[in-house]
Amino acid sequence: MKPEQKVLADAPNLIEAAAEHFVASARAAIAKRGVFNVALAGGSTPKGLYKKLAAAPYIDQVDWARVNLFFGDERCVLPSHDDSNYKMAREAMIDALPIPESNVHRMLTEDGVAPDVAIAYCHTMREVLGEEPLDLVLLGLGPDGHIASLFPDTPALDVMDKKTTSVYVEKFDSWRVTMTYPVINAARQVIVFIAGEAKADIVKDITSEAVTGLPVQRLAPQGDYYWFMDSAAASQ
Ligand code: 6PG
Repeated sequence: MKPEQKVLADAPNLIEAAAEHFVASARAAIAKRGVFNVALAGGSTPKGLYKKLAAAPYIDQVDWARVNLFFGDERCVLPSHDDSNYKMAREAMIDALPIPESNVHRMLTEDGVAPDVAIAYCHTMREVLGEEPLDLVLLGLGPDGHIASLFPDTPALDVMDKKTTSVYVEKFDSWRVTMTYPVINAARQVIVFIAGEAKADIVKDITSEAVTGLPVQRLAPQGDYYWFMDSAAASQ
Protein backbone atom coordinates (compact mmCIF):
# COMPACT_ATOMS: atom_id res chain seq x y z
CA MET A 1 0.00 0.00 0.00
CA LYS A 2 1.42 3.36 -0.95
CA PRO A 3 1.24 6.09 1.66
CA GLU A 4 -0.26 9.48 1.00
CA GLN A 5 2.82 11.70 1.05
CA LYS A 6 2.60 15.12 2.70
CA VAL A 7 5.76 17.12 2.00
CA LEU A 8 6.16 20.31 3.98
CA ALA A 9 8.66 23.06 3.19
CA ASP A 10 10.75 22.63 6.32
CA ALA A 11 10.86 21.14 9.82
CA PRO A 12 8.75 23.85 11.52
CA ASN A 13 6.03 23.48 8.88
CA LEU A 14 6.24 19.70 9.12
CA ILE A 15 5.77 19.81 12.87
CA GLU A 16 2.86 22.24 12.59
CA ALA A 17 1.08 20.13 9.97
CA ALA A 18 1.62 16.95 11.99
CA ALA A 19 0.37 18.62 15.18
CA GLU A 20 -2.79 19.79 13.43
CA HIS A 21 -3.31 16.31 12.01
CA PHE A 22 -2.74 14.67 15.41
CA VAL A 23 -5.26 16.98 17.08
CA ALA A 24 -7.85 16.45 14.34
CA SER A 25 -7.38 12.67 14.62
CA ALA A 26 -7.69 12.78 18.41
CA ARG A 27 -10.84 14.89 18.34
CA ALA A 28 -12.46 12.68 15.69
CA ALA A 29 -11.70 9.47 17.62
CA ILE A 30 -12.89 10.92 20.94
CA ALA A 31 -16.09 12.23 19.32
CA LYS A 32 -16.75 8.81 17.74
CA ARG A 33 -15.58 6.36 20.43
CA GLY A 34 -14.88 8.45 23.51
CA VAL A 35 -11.17 7.60 23.47
CA PHE A 36 -8.01 8.11 21.38
CA ASN A 37 -5.47 5.30 21.55
CA VAL A 38 -2.13 6.30 20.08
CA ALA A 39 1.29 4.66 19.88
CA LEU A 40 4.16 7.14 20.06
CA ALA A 41 7.32 6.89 18.00
CA GLY A 42 10.75 6.95 19.54
CA GLY A 43 14.02 8.28 18.22
CA SER A 44 14.74 11.99 17.78
CA THR A 45 12.49 13.06 14.88
CA PRO A 46 9.13 13.22 16.77
CA LYS A 47 10.52 15.24 19.69
CA GLY A 48 9.63 18.57 18.05
CA LEU A 49 6.09 17.35 17.40
CA TYR A 50 5.68 16.26 21.02
CA LYS A 51 6.87 19.65 22.24
CA LYS A 52 4.42 21.34 19.90
CA LEU A 53 1.50 19.24 21.15
CA ALA A 54 2.40 20.08 24.75
CA ALA A 55 2.03 23.81 24.12
CA ALA A 56 -0.79 26.20 23.21
CA PRO A 57 -2.86 26.12 21.12
CA TYR A 58 -2.69 22.32 20.65
CA ILE A 59 -2.54 21.28 24.31
CA ASP A 60 -5.94 22.92 24.86
CA GLN A 61 -7.55 21.33 21.81
CA VAL A 62 -7.39 17.70 23.03
CA ASP A 63 -9.25 16.10 25.95
CA TRP A 64 -6.13 14.34 27.24
CA ALA A 65 -8.13 12.50 29.91
CA ARG A 66 -9.55 10.51 27.00
CA VAL A 67 -6.16 9.74 25.42
CA ASN A 68 -4.15 6.56 25.98
CA LEU A 69 -0.47 6.89 25.15
CA PHE A 70 1.37 3.72 24.16
CA PHE A 71 4.88 3.26 22.75
CA GLY A 72 5.58 1.59 19.40
CA ASP A 73 8.93 0.41 20.66
CA GLU A 74 11.44 0.87 23.43
CA ARG A 75 15.11 0.43 24.11
CA CYS A 76 15.74 -1.97 26.99
CA VAL A 77 17.19 0.65 29.30
CA LEU A 78 15.87 2.17 32.52
CA PRO A 79 13.12 4.80 32.08
CA SER A 80 15.59 7.35 33.47
CA HIS A 81 18.20 6.52 30.83
CA ASP A 82 18.87 9.07 28.05
CA ASP A 83 18.24 6.38 25.42
CA SER A 84 14.73 5.73 26.76
CA ASN A 85 11.96 6.64 24.32
CA TYR A 86 9.66 7.01 27.31
CA LYS A 87 12.06 9.55 28.89
CA MET A 88 12.20 11.50 25.64
CA ALA A 89 8.41 11.63 25.33
CA ARG A 90 7.95 12.39 29.02
CA GLU A 91 10.32 15.36 28.93
CA ALA A 92 9.12 16.65 25.53
CA MET A 93 5.40 16.28 26.14
CA ILE A 94 3.88 14.00 28.79
CA ASP A 95 5.04 16.00 31.84
CA ALA A 96 3.25 19.06 30.46
CA LEU A 97 0.00 17.32 29.55
CA PRO A 98 -3.11 17.17 31.76
CA ILE A 99 -3.18 13.40 31.22
CA PRO A 100 -3.81 10.87 34.01
CA GLU A 101 -0.69 8.81 34.77
CA SER A 102 -2.85 5.71 34.30
CA ASN A 103 -3.31 6.69 30.62
CA VAL A 104 0.44 6.55 29.95
CA HIS A 105 1.39 3.00 29.08
CA ARG A 106 5.14 2.64 28.90
CA MET A 107 7.10 -0.58 28.42
CA LEU A 108 8.34 -1.61 31.88
CA THR A 109 11.91 -2.17 30.78
CA GLU A 110 13.22 -2.29 34.34
CA ASP A 111 11.04 -5.29 35.15
CA GLY A 112 13.01 -7.99 33.43
CA VAL A 113 14.58 -9.38 30.30
CA ALA A 114 13.34 -8.20 26.94
CA PRO A 115 11.08 -11.19 26.11
CA ASP A 116 9.29 -10.74 29.45
CA VAL A 117 8.92 -7.00 28.90
CA ALA A 118 7.33 -7.76 25.51
CA ILE A 119 4.86 -10.25 27.01
CA ALA A 120 3.95 -7.85 29.80
CA TYR A 121 3.31 -5.08 27.30
CA CYS A 122 1.11 -7.34 25.22
CA HIS A 123 -0.99 -7.91 28.35
CA THR A 124 -1.16 -4.16 28.99
CA MET A 125 -2.38 -3.56 25.44
CA ARG A 126 -5.04 -6.25 25.82
CA GLU A 127 -6.20 -4.84 29.16
CA VAL A 128 -6.55 -1.30 27.81
CA LEU A 129 -7.61 -1.93 24.21
CA GLY A 130 -9.32 -5.30 24.35
CA GLU A 131 -9.72 -6.21 20.66
CA GLU A 132 -9.86 -2.54 19.58
CA PRO A 133 -7.18 -1.44 17.10
CA LEU A 134 -4.99 1.57 17.87
CA ASP A 135 -6.35 4.80 16.44
CA LEU A 136 -2.93 6.06 15.43
CA VAL A 137 0.56 4.62 15.22
CA LEU A 138 3.32 7.20 14.84
CA LEU A 139 6.56 5.87 13.38
CA GLY A 140 9.95 7.27 12.57
CA LEU A 141 12.13 5.93 9.75
CA GLY A 142 15.65 4.66 10.27
CA PRO A 143 18.34 5.21 7.62
CA ASP A 144 18.25 1.43 7.03
CA GLY A 145 14.51 1.42 6.48
CA HIS A 146 13.56 0.23 9.96
CA ILE A 147 10.36 1.36 11.67
CA ALA A 148 9.67 1.03 15.41
CA SER A 149 12.24 -1.68 16.25
CA LEU A 150 11.48 -3.76 13.21
CA PHE A 151 15.02 -3.88 11.81
CA PRO A 152 16.14 -5.45 8.53
CA ASP A 153 17.02 -9.15 8.69
CA THR A 154 15.72 -9.67 12.23
CA PRO A 155 13.23 -12.33 13.40
CA ALA A 156 10.90 -9.58 14.68
CA LEU A 157 9.84 -9.00 11.06
CA ASP A 158 8.17 -12.39 10.94
CA VAL A 159 6.28 -12.30 14.24
CA MET A 160 2.65 -12.42 13.12
CA ASP A 161 0.97 -14.13 16.09
CA LYS A 162 1.79 -11.61 18.84
CA LYS A 163 1.24 -7.87 19.42
CA THR A 164 4.77 -7.31 20.70
CA THR A 165 8.13 -8.98 20.48
CA SER A 166 11.71 -8.47 21.63
CA VAL A 167 14.68 -8.22 19.33
CA TYR A 168 18.44 -8.08 19.76
CA VAL A 169 19.85 -5.37 17.48
CA GLU A 170 23.41 -6.36 16.71
CA LYS A 171 24.58 -2.99 15.41
CA PHE A 172 23.47 -1.33 18.63
CA ASP A 173 24.47 -4.36 20.75
CA SER A 174 21.23 -3.90 22.62
CA TRP A 175 17.79 -5.36 23.10
CA ARG A 176 14.60 -3.64 22.06
CA VAL A 177 10.89 -4.35 22.48
CA THR A 178 8.59 -3.48 19.61
CA MET A 179 5.02 -3.65 18.40
CA THR A 180 4.67 -6.09 15.52
CA TYR A 181 3.30 -5.69 11.99
CA PRO A 182 -0.17 -7.10 12.81
CA VAL A 183 -0.71 -4.39 15.44
CA ILE A 184 0.66 -1.59 13.31
CA ASN A 185 -1.19 -2.69 10.16
CA ALA A 186 -4.48 -3.00 12.06
CA ALA A 187 -4.34 0.60 13.30
CA ARG A 188 -6.96 3.00 12.01
CA GLN A 189 -4.10 5.31 10.94
CA VAL A 190 -0.35 4.97 10.46
CA ILE A 191 1.94 7.98 10.09
CA VAL A 192 5.62 7.73 9.21
CA PHE A 193 7.27 10.97 10.28
CA ILE A 194 10.46 11.76 8.38
CA ALA A 195 12.66 14.82 8.59
CA GLY A 196 16.03 16.01 7.41
CA GLU A 197 18.64 15.53 4.75
CA ALA A 198 19.93 12.43 6.51
CA LYS A 199 16.83 10.55 5.44
CA ALA A 200 16.86 11.66 1.81
CA ASP A 201 18.75 8.60 0.55
CA ILE A 202 16.49 6.04 2.19
CA VAL A 203 13.39 7.94 1.08
CA LYS A 204 14.70 7.97 -2.50
CA ASP A 205 15.57 4.27 -2.38
CA ILE A 206 12.13 3.37 -1.07
CA THR A 207 10.05 5.60 -3.33
CA SER A 208 12.07 4.61 -6.42
CA GLU A 209 11.89 0.97 -5.32
CA ALA A 210 15.60 0.77 -6.00
CA VAL A 211 15.48 -1.22 -2.81
CA THR A 212 12.65 -3.59 -1.82
CA GLY A 213 11.72 -5.67 1.21
CA LEU A 214 12.77 -3.10 3.78
CA PRO A 215 10.79 -3.08 7.03
CA VAL A 216 8.95 0.12 6.12
CA GLN A 217 8.10 -1.34 2.70
CA ARG A 218 6.61 -4.41 4.38
CA LEU A 219 4.03 -2.21 6.10
CA ALA A 220 0.49 -2.94 4.88
CA PRO A 221 -1.77 -0.59 6.84
CA GLN A 222 -5.46 -1.48 6.64
CA GLY A 223 -6.41 2.07 7.59
CA ASP A 224 -5.17 5.50 6.55
CA TYR A 225 -1.46 5.66 5.76
CA TYR A 226 0.60 8.85 5.55
CA TRP A 227 4.17 9.90 5.21
CA PHE A 228 4.75 13.32 6.72
CA MET A 229 8.08 14.64 5.42
CA ASP A 230 9.96 17.86 5.13
CA SER A 231 11.42 18.84 1.78
CA ALA A 232 14.94 17.95 2.95
CA ALA A 233 13.89 14.33 3.45
CA ALA A 234 12.04 14.36 0.13
CA SER A 235 14.80 16.25 -1.66
CA GLN A 236 15.86 13.39 -3.88
C1 6PG B 1 13.72 4.11 18.10
C2 6PG B 1 12.64 4.33 17.12
C3 6PG B 1 13.14 4.12 15.71
C4 6PG B 1 13.28 5.52 15.15
C5 6PG B 1 14.18 5.54 13.94
C6 6PG B 1 14.44 6.94 13.47
O1 6PG B 1 13.47 3.65 19.19
O2 6PG B 1 14.85 4.47 17.74
O3 6PG B 1 11.44 3.92 17.39
O4 6PG B 1 12.34 3.36 14.91
O5 6PG B 1 12.01 6.01 14.82
O6 6PG B 1 15.40 4.96 14.34
O7 6PG B 1 15.15 7.59 14.47
P1 6PG B 1 15.45 9.16 14.40
O8 6PG B 1 14.15 9.84 14.44
O9 6PG B 1 16.28 9.44 15.60
O10 6PG B 1 16.17 9.41 13.10
